[in-house]
Amino acid sequence: MIALTLAEVAEAVGGRLVAADPTVRVTGPVEFDSRKVQPGSLFVAFPGERVDGHDYAATAVEAGAVVVLGTRQIDGVPMVLVDDALSAMGPLARAVVDRLPELTVVGLTGSSGKTGTKDLTAQLVARLGPTVAPPGSFNNELGHPYTVLKADEQTRFLVLEKSARGIGHIRYLTTVAPPRIAVVLNVGVAHLGEFGSVEGIATAKGELVEALPAAADGGVAVLNADDPRVRAMASRTSARVVLVGEAADAELRATEVTMDERGRPAFMLVTPEGSAPVRLGLTGRHQVGNALAAAAVARELGMPLADLAVALGELRLVSTRRMDVFDRTDEVTVIDDSYNANPASMSAALRALAEFGRGRRTVAVLGYMAELGEFEQQGHEEVGRLAADLGVDRLFVVGESAAPIHHGASAVRTWGGVSVLVTDQAEAVAAVGAELRPGDVVLVKGSRYRTWEVVDALRADAVTETGNGTEGVRA
Ligand SMILES: Nc1ncnc2c1ncn2[C@@H]1O[C@H](COP(=O)(O)OP(=O)(O)OP(=O)(O)O)[C@@H](O)[C@H]1O
Ligand SMILES: [Mg+2]
Repeated sequence: MIALTLAEVAEAVGGRLVAADPTVRVTGPVEFDSRKVQPGSLFVAFPGERVDGHDYAATAVEAGAVVVLGTRQIDGVPMVLVDDALSAMGPLARAVVDRLPELTVVGLTGSSGKTGTKDLTAQLVARLGPTVAPPGSFNNELGHPYTVLKADEQTRFLVLEKSARGIGHIRYLTTVAPPRIAVVLNVGVAHLGEFGSVEGIATAKGELVEALPAAADGGVAVLNADDPRVRAMASRTSARVVLVGEAADAELRATEVTMDERGRPAFMLVTPEGSAPVRLGLTGRHQVGNALAAAAVARELGMPLADLAVALGELRLVSTRRMDVFDRTDEVTVIDDSYNANPASMSAALRALAEFGRGRRTVAVLGYMAELGEFEQQGHEEVGRLAADLGVDRLFVVGESAAPIHHGASAVRTWGGVSVLVTDQAEAVAAVGAELRPGDVVLVKGSRYRTWEVVDALRADAVTETGNGTEGVRA
């Protein structure tokens, strides 16, 4: 964070200083975990799921925190008192952004691919200047301001994932760090349960482009031309619209898309400045759209086409469990896409598996997709049907809650593959382990922890099977 006096902090959050010298400066990071506190830090104390941060206030001060942002006074601890310390991080973050006129904020949203595309965008723009982006999926009312507070005078670009769990959430996040450039990737049925309808999701995601400055003030909305609900958001912004995708009218366009034997796309990047061939090191055709969105941001920030084409080819996977491909020494390839799942990302992953499957046997281990609301039954069945239609050879469906995947696949009469419904992850580990043979490709995917044990066992197996003490090699 930039150095702020305690008086400035108190003013930013509308708080009251107690036992604190208003002229003292916060020079260290803002932290809510006392173990991360450094000399000069501001420690944020709030009740968490298991512990109350206030119990760690004194520890934080011993570790060097110059002030604690909290809701109740603690003897001997300099404090900024507020009604809600977690919420106070928003205005504090905003105060930092307002003091950094050189900073460009880039916000991304979408139903699938926010974190991955945030990682891609951050890798590209980091070539143009110091960049702050959150690790993993730090995108909510805590992670978002926490990331913003990492920015300082050196930072040029802040790349933020904006997630919505309801109407107004993204609008709120845009008040914390107002974006100049926004990216909307797609609108799907992820988190449908909380919104009720896909239209509701589109309304919520579109709040990001509504918050942009007008075109004349530099506002840029990067919209996926291939998703009608995203494209339609052009009417909800006064920013300049940059369409990206495979549609003929996209400003940044991918043509001649081909896939290699490991599901990695290559394409011609077509821009108003000219065209350049791009070969991605990432797995899945869906990465074309994600890469185009990231490229549009970097181009907007001044990256010339030639550099862009090189940089796109050098993009690497950062956040784990998202199309993370590794080979085992027994010649089994594993696609770990187990971070999360919804019908769109299941489809993207199954299609990537099918690319590997040209000449290899394919195995899919699929678990429950959370938060689908009334679409739950249908969503799971469709995924099962798709797996069968794509010709997956062996399907393992993990857990009763995911059973409609099994039923959906089994109902496809033309399918030559086999589906097995297993009760839990332990059973899946045993069944998959018994099934695998050299040359197989295995996709593991489900919502959050639903299939993590399976994929972790597959990683561990690489060790035990070869006995050489090394983990499977990452592609
Ligand atoms: N454009 C895309 N279309 C469909 N699926 C995608 C796309 N991009 C990424 N995915 C897949 O979506 C899943 C989630 O990816 P990621 O974590 O990047 O998304 P997210 O939007 O940040 O998710 P969350 O809402 O859980 O934070 C992964 O399985 C990933 O492979
Ligand atoms: Mg995410």
